[in-house]
This record gives sequence, structure tokens and C-alpha cells, in this order.
Amino acid sequence: MEGTEESLRRELSEWRGCGTARDFPYDAVIARLRRVGKHFLSGALLGLLAECRDALGGRTGQEARDVFLARFLDVVLDKYDDRYDYPSYTALPLLRPTGPEEPAGLRDRTVLLLLADLVRFERLALEGTAAHPDGMLPDAQLLGKRLRLAVRVMEPAALRVLDGAVDPVSVAATPGRTPAGALADAVLADADTEERRMLLTSVQPVYVLHDEYLFLRVLQSFETTFRFMSRTLDRAVGVLRGECPGDAATLIASVADVLRESLPLFSLLATMQQASFQEFRQYTDGASAIQSEGYKTFESYCSTPLRARLDSPAFTSVPKVREAVLAGRDTVQDTWEDVISSGWLTEPDAAAVRAAAQQLEAVHQRWKQTHYRLAVRMIGARSGTGATEGVPYLKSVVANRLFPAMQPTPALEQQPAAG
Ligand code: HEM
Repeated sequence: MEGTEESLRRELSEWRGCGTARDFPYDAVIARLRRVGKHFLSGALLGLLAECRDALGGRTGQEARDVFLARFLDVVLDKYDDRYDYPSYTALPLLRPTGPEEPAGLRDRTVLLLLADLVRFERLALEGTAAHPDGMLPDAQLLGKRLRLAVRVMEPAALRVLDGAVDPVSVAATPGRTPAGALADAVLADADTEERRMLLTSVQPVYVLHDEYLFLRVLQSFETTFRFMSRTLDRAVGVLRGECPGDAATLIASVADVLRESLPLFSLLATMQQASFQEFRQYTDGASAIQSEGYKTFESYCSTPLRARLDSPAFTSVPKVREAVLAGRDTVQDTWEDVISSGWLTEPDAAAVRAAAQQLEAVHQRWKQTHYRLAVRMIGARSGTGATEGVPYLKSVVANRLFPAMQPTPALEQQPAAG
């Protein structure tokens, strides 16, 4: 699978002439990319890949409709095209289904696959047969810790979508004890052809260091979660306006739960070696999660961000989301207030929705604080790759609230005495 650049170029030249999407040499392209890093692919190879993309565009019928291959080539060629950014760095277009349907349980299944693949990759290093990227390998203790933390995030998802893979009783008693290898093997054995292709193609590190694999899989797991959160809150807004508005509470609570379950992803990422991160980060400049459309979409479904935030890099970095907000996006908070004032929401239902929103607020505050602490540890006083000052920016956003109008009523004794 891992030939020289020369043999890969020969293979691509042949493909450019008459290959079909089905026989595109994904394996060989990815093997080369992971061996040298996306930032260091040769100009000749990149030029050839661009010609393959042109050839694909020039074909008709089934071939031209191969959305996945077109997306793949765009992701590989992001730096070459001068379009490199956070979505292309994290290969987000390759995680999305190619059809219009989004099957139920997609978030859980995708996160399981991403983390099972990470477990597989880290186990190879533990067994002394590390795959590329393999620079600056962590020691066995750190690798073992990664497996345990990955399992913490996988267990709740496996309980929902993978029958029999984990024992609900032991997970409830002591989370994180399911053997990582067996769980990952069960997830990967269940993967279909498209899912395997997604896993193969979606780790495109910019450099050659082992820890970048972890970084990418953690970012992708969060992004998959943000997407689920945005879509669920969109549904919650619709339900609030419908026949049974109180049902929105369950949807909002499920968003809070999934974000809570995802928090150990930060502990997992904290096992990244700081020296490794400093090294590969030199080549990620221009890609920052401040460009995460998933996160900003989720945020702007809760309530409309203040104008100052909308005009700051927080939202100017995600122009499409900003535009959707300015065009007037319905939010949970505004809709909740509307249906209360119209008398459509009973007092118990209003309280249930508010309680669920408060749970989400609390877990999001924990998310921001943990993210802030991780950034302090990893970059200290260095600026961000998204052109902010870095840690001071993150500190400034901790005070923001998702639902400013749905805060708990202060206890009576804490209220200033009248008169
Ligand atoms: C090594 C770990 C990390 C470091 C050092 C870090 C650092 C930063 C910094 C400095 C910013 C400010 C924007 C910039 O200039 O880049 C930022 C923003 C952000 N990061 Fe991270 N980050 C890390 C991990 C993560 C992870 C795992 C996620 C999950 C997707 C994430 C999500 C975000 C989001 C959503 C923002 C935008 C926040 C806002 O605009 O309110 N970060 N990060």
C-alpha cells in the first residue's frame, strides 16, 4: 500500500486517463500524505491530483456524480488552492453523508467510528507497529490513558446504538472500564464500505507527528456533536411552536446530555504532548475552530448573539452562519418567550423547558472553562491560529451566556431589599 511518490504518480497518471471513482487510489494518496504531511506534498504530486480533479469534472454520468471523490480532492488540495481553513483541515466535508438523508443515531455512530479508529491507531503504537504519522511517539503510559479516555466517550454512544457492545450495569457503576480494544473492534467490524472510506480518508495531518491524529479525531468528534446539537435545537424551536411545546424540554435536555458526555474529549486531548503540538501547529496557521460553523450554529439556535459578538471575529469568521443569524433565525429563547406570552405554554411546561436550557447553559460553561484551561496549557501566551490574541480571547468569551433571559431566578434572600 505504501509505495514511493514515483509509483503513486504513475498510478494517478493512469487514473487521470480512464479511471473511475470506484478505483481511485485513495489508499496510496493517503499513505503518501500521512508519510510526509499535507504541508509537504510535492508540487508535482499536487499538480497531478489537481489534474485528476479536472478530469473528474470533465466526465459525465455516474463518475461526475461521485460527490465523495470531489470532496476528497478538494480537501487534499486545500493548501494548493489557497483555500485551507478549519473545515478542510478537519476534513469535515468527508464526515457528512453524501445523500440528503441524515439517519437517526448518526452522531453516536460517527463518534464511535472516529474514536474506534483512534483506538486502533494508538494500539498499533502500543504494540510497537506504529503507523504513519509516527513522529514523536508518546510513551506506553500516555497511550494507555488515551484508550481509557476514548472509552469514556464511546460508552454512552455505544449503549444507544450498538447492541450488546457494552454492559450497561458496569458502565453505570464505573464508567470507562470497557476494554478499549474489544469495543473498538466491535465498532469497526460493524462499519460498512462508506464508513470505512470515511475513516481512511478523513485524517489528513499537515505534518508527520503521531499526536496530530489524536488532535484531528477529537476535533471531528466535537464537530459531529455540534452538528447534532444544532439540528436538535432547530427541531426544538419547531416543537415549541407546535401542538405539544413542552416536548421541547426533552430535546434540549438531550443536547445538554450529549455535550456533557463529550467533555472527556478534552481530557483525551490533554494527553497530547505540548512539544508535538507546538511543532505541527506551525503548519496549521489559518485553520482555527473559531471557524467552526457547527459551534456557532448551535450557539445561535439558543438565542441571538449580541451585535458586538456578531461583529467580532467570533462570527465574522463564519460568514454563512452570521448571514443566517442576521436574516432572522428563530431561537429557543425567543420562541419560549413568544409562546409564554401567547399563553400557549403551560407553567409546568415553561418551567421544564427553562430547566433543560439551564442544564445546557451549565454544561456549556464547563465546556468553555475546560477549553480555556486546555488552551492555557497548550499555547500559553502565544496567539491563536484564528488571528485572535489566543487565551485572552477565550477568557473574554467565558462570561457570555447561551440563554441570557432564562437564567435561574435569584433566591429571594439574595435579592436587594426594597426601600
Ligand atoms: C490544543 C487544544 C486547543 C487549543 C490550544 C485551542 C485554542 C483556541 C484559541 C486560541 C481560540 C481562539 C481563536 C483563535 O485565534 O484560534 C479557540 C477558539 C475556539 N476553539 Fe479551541 N483550542 C483547542 C481545542 C479545541 C477543541 C478540541 C475544540 C472543539 C471543537 C475547540 C473549539 C473552539 C471553538 C468553538 C472556538 C471558538 C470560540 C468562540 O469564538 O467563542 N478548541 N481555541
